Amino acid sequence: MNLVDSERRVLSGMRPSGQMHIGHYHGVLKNWVKLQHSYDCFFCIVDWHALTTDYEDVSLLSKHVQDMAIDWLACGLSPSSATLFIQSQVPEHAELHVLLSMLCPLSWLERVPSYKESQEQHQGRDLGTYGFLGYPLLQAADILLYRAGIVPVGSDQLAHIEFVRDVARRFNHLYGREPGFEVKAEAAIRKLGKKNSKLYNSLRQAYQEQGDSEALDTARALLKELQNITLGDKERLLGYLEGGGKLVLPEPQAMFSESPRLTGLDGGKMSKSHNNAIYLRDTQEQVEEKIKRMPTDPARVHRNDPGEPARCPVWPLHKLYSSETTCDWVQQGCTSAGIGCVECKQPLIESVQQDLQPIQLRAAEYEDNLDVVRGILASGAERARDEARDTLVEVRQALGMNYR
Ligand code: TYM
Repeated sequence: MNLVDSERRVLSGMRPSGQMHIGHYHGVLKNWVKLQHSYDCFFCIVDWHALTTDYEDVSLLSKHVQDMAIDWLACGLSPSSATLFIQSQVPEHAELHVLLSMLCPLSWLERVPSYKESQEQHQGRDLGTYGFLGYPLLQAADILLYRAGIVPVGSDQLAHIEFVRDVARRFNHLYGREPGFEVKAEAAIRKLGKKNSKLYNSLRQAYQEQGDSEALDTARALLKELQNITLGDKERLLGYLEGGGKLVLPEPQAMFSESPRLTGLDGGKMSKSHNNAIYLRDTQEQVEEKIKRMPTDPARVHRNDPGEPARCPVWPLHKLYSSETTCDWVQQGCTSAGIGCVECKQPLIESVQQDLQPIQLRAAEYEDNLDVVRGILASGAERARDEARDTLVEVRQALGMNYR
């Protein structure tokens, strides 16, 4: 049995459905770059997910996948610290998806908020497909296949991660019963030592008899802290807390960065489909033009009208890109009508341009070395497959499908 420390395991993914924008960068990618040094990280270009909405025109798919890999590398993801791979090159994602589809109630999929929202957003495309409905379940397979405990995403993904947790819980409830589970769990409790066994038992009892969810959290935290316990026993004791069986598929948690929902040029969430994005590959001129065209505080009609940064779509970008001194200058100048909107935007334009330049230079280097990029993705897929196969051994065993 191959055990995974899911609290140290990170998985996340992005859809290669067009150019990456600074919302992706500040919302998640920068966080991934940080996490790769201290966690066991898997980052996946989810090309099957891109197909769920763009299945009619696949002419640009492979270009988008390649561009995404280049941008990831240019932003600082490193193949020596993290595993970078393409979803469709690890067919185990499809196997787990099929198995999970057997136990996932249709109603769970229908009530995921993005199902109706995306259908409305992509009007003109037929999204009444099986693949589109199953989108969150494919995402569940992506995460659970690596038994990842941490999923760094933007806040728009929260409902998906909650859904993944429900699916994992249902799977564990149905199939987590190993032979002699209770005996093994009781033996594991005894191994905790007198004080901790007593504490574990009382917390478990408080949760199971009175539904005390704080007790459940405390017990989970206790298990997390304990060093002298095997991962197998930890999984058993986590499962035993809730009364079910062993945890085959751990429930993941979403992790947010400081900008979990970056707003775009119009003040709404930055997104390709809203046509309000600054892209990582925008030229200096494009950046300047886009920011210059940004609407500002609607109440500030004339240059002499004082404004209110909190009402202005430019302000969140200043808070992200500008120094404290510049932010103070904006706040002071805007509210007193001391500066005009054109003036206010200038330092922002320069900071965004400066931020993007090194990324674009590194991207150009990878563009000239596509074989390197392909090699990184190929070895990433190999590494990912090794992990994925291990999980599937456990999953098949739990389902009684380990035929000889
Ligand atoms: P996707 O491709 O739409 O977006 C990729 C990631 O970027 C984040 N993001 C943002 N964050 C902050 N501000 C913004 N304006 C902004 N726009 C996008 C998204 O929240 C996301 O984290 N369903 C996923 C892809 C996926 C996945 C997975 C994610 C498939 N399997 C497994 C995590 C784990 C999606 O559509 O993301």
